[in-house]
Amino acid sequence: MTTRAASVSARLPVFPWDTLADATKRARAHPDGIVDLSVGTPVDPVAPVIRDALAAASSAPGYPTTAGTPTLRASALAALERRYGVSGVAPDAVLPVIGTKELIAWLPTLLGLGGDDIVVVPELAYPTYDVGARLVGAQVLQADSLTQIGPRMPRLVFVNSPSNPTGKVLGVDHLRKVVGWARERDVLVASDECYLGLGWEAEPVSVLHPSVCDGDHANLLAIHSLSKTSSLAGYRAGFVAGDPHVVAELLAVRKHAGMMVPTPVQAAMVAALDDDEHEREQKKRYARRRGVLLTAVRDAGFTVEHSEAGLYLWATRGEPGRDTLSWLADRGILVAPGEFYGPRGANFVRIALTATDERIDAAVARLAE
Ligand SMILES: Cc1ncc(COP(=O)(O)O)c(C=O)c1O
Repeated sequence: MTTRAASVSARLPVFPWDTLADATKRARAHPDGIVDLSVGTPVDPVAPVIRDALAAASSAPGYPTTAGTPTLRASALAALERRYGVSGVAPDAVLPVIGTKELIAWLPTLLGLGGDDIVVVPELAYPTYDVGARLVGAQVLQADSLTQIGPRMPRLVFVNSPSNPTGKVLGVDHLRKVVGWARERDVLVASDECYLGLGWEAEPVSVLHPSVCDGDHANLLAIHSLSKTSSLAGYRAGFVAGDPHVVAELLAVRKHAGMMVPTPVQAAMVAALDDDEHEREQKKRYARRRGVLLTAVRDAGFTVEHSEAGLYLWATRGEPGRDTLSWLADRGILVAPGEFYGPRGANFVRIALTATDERIDAAVARLAE
């Protein structure tokens, strides 16, 4: 490898999951096997309606379009309206992406940000916001409030409601303030809405909802993943919608960079976006798992904060998260230490709801021992 190539990876953080090797080994040694609640990867079968659409589109000799088929764009906008009350997005203000991690990691690059620019990310956050900023050498500012940003002028602000890792939901008032502030300064707000359909004790709202943006999508991007709501993480399927000028610019750059969603996946996305039944079923599965796990975790003496939406319990035993990780690993349960998501998570662990009912029930039984 050339020195220049190696210097890009050197800008990036250590891949944190590599540090779980010891805990993983101990959890695997449990006689009834590991319950892996660390990564949050979906495990439920893909709905037949989606698999059929993928199979039917499998003869795809030609290149797909970067913009996505008109049908896919229409389905994405119809789903936004039906499921989340978002209306008024123009047909060319939406774009499919190869999973939203791809878009998030490359957004600062696609927008032409550089070393003098500031990217704001939540204090406890999905690590890819930081990765995207580092790829262009931008400065990262961890801030949950506009006060923390002060007089600084970022180019890009990420918000994530419901949050990974905490499950916290930002209310309409909070989001309205962010939107108003960003518009006054011509800052772009990228709202990662990966868990928007998974509200339990709160009703998450899109940044594009009229109650937040008054029907004006300027300076706003909503980023939607099909990975969790439709269990499609293996397909790599998501889309971005919002400010028509920004979406047009993303399309113009992505066309050159070959960032195309494969034709069969585009067809599968249409099926997933047109069908709310499988999405409701999936939500019910997670609701059940959350219910039993939340009770078991609390009964085992944990305090659970936020977690009113999304796919994680944000939990503490009032000790360093690494100690909790170890305590759980001895019971064959693997979780993610809160420090993966920022220094404020040091005393927490993130417990994912993404395991089969059988594995979740095994975790519940072990926590009661
Ligand atoms: C907050 C958040 N955003 C985005 C993603 C990426 O999802 P995908 O790339 O599967 O669309 C994840 C995945 O876990 C996530 O937690």
